[in-house]
Amino acid sequence: MSDIVLISGSPSVQSRSEKVLDFIGSTIQHSGYSVTKISVTDIPAEALMYGHYNHEKIKNAVQQIANAKSIVISSPVYKAAYTGALKAFIDLLPQDVFKHKAVLPIMTGGSLAHLLAIEYTLKPLIAILKGQSLNGVFITDEQINKTEKNPIIDQSIYDRIEKQIEYLVEAIEKRSISILQ
Ligand SMILES: Cc1cc2nc3c(=O)[nH]c(=O)nc-3n(C[C@H](O)[C@H](O)[C@H](O)COP(=O)(O)O)c2cc1C
Repeated sequence: MSDIVLISGSPSVQSRSEKVLDFIGSTIQHSGYSVTKISVTDIPAEALMYGHYNHEKIKNAVQQIANAKSIVISSPVYKAAYTGALKAFIDLLPQDVFKHKAVLPIMTGGSLAHLLAIEYTLKPLIAILKGQSLNGVFITDEQINKTEKNPIIDQSIYDRIEKQIEYLVEAIEKRSISILQ
């Protein structure tokens, strides 16, 4: 089981949001935490479409999430919200699966037009699973170069991501301390 679970909500094969998620994951890993990723594309479409709660991949995902200290969740904006594939996956998780966990939300979009999708769609979804959202980061396509190891072209976005990772690590450490006390 890993300290941090990354959840990718993009159905795209060459996904920008997932590339950003991977970058965040490797940065967190360099801070000494173990990281694992669940992508909606790893879950059989049948399980998502027909709500197979007992599918092995869903049971494994639930266990990994439940045992993680913290979550980073990413989604592209699709029609002004997170993707349907992410929602289909989330619908198969227990109601309080993010309880006591800091959750870093990341969204990518074609433009700034749906910048608030992170506030009005992704954060409420995290809240319903009892997660504690960090501010999160919204990134437009022109701020991402998915062929680079560090895909963030825009320095201010890069700085914001670094800050959010710092807060996430702080939240994990505080939680460990409160467990020890
Ligand atoms: C079906 C579909 C719907 C989209 N809807 C929006 C939208 O409403 N607003 C927006 O800003 N971008 C929209 N986009 C653009 C994607 O959010 C953007 O390109 C994103 O970075 C893609 O991420 P991905 O490569 O991880 O899938 C849409 C793209 C697709 C394929």
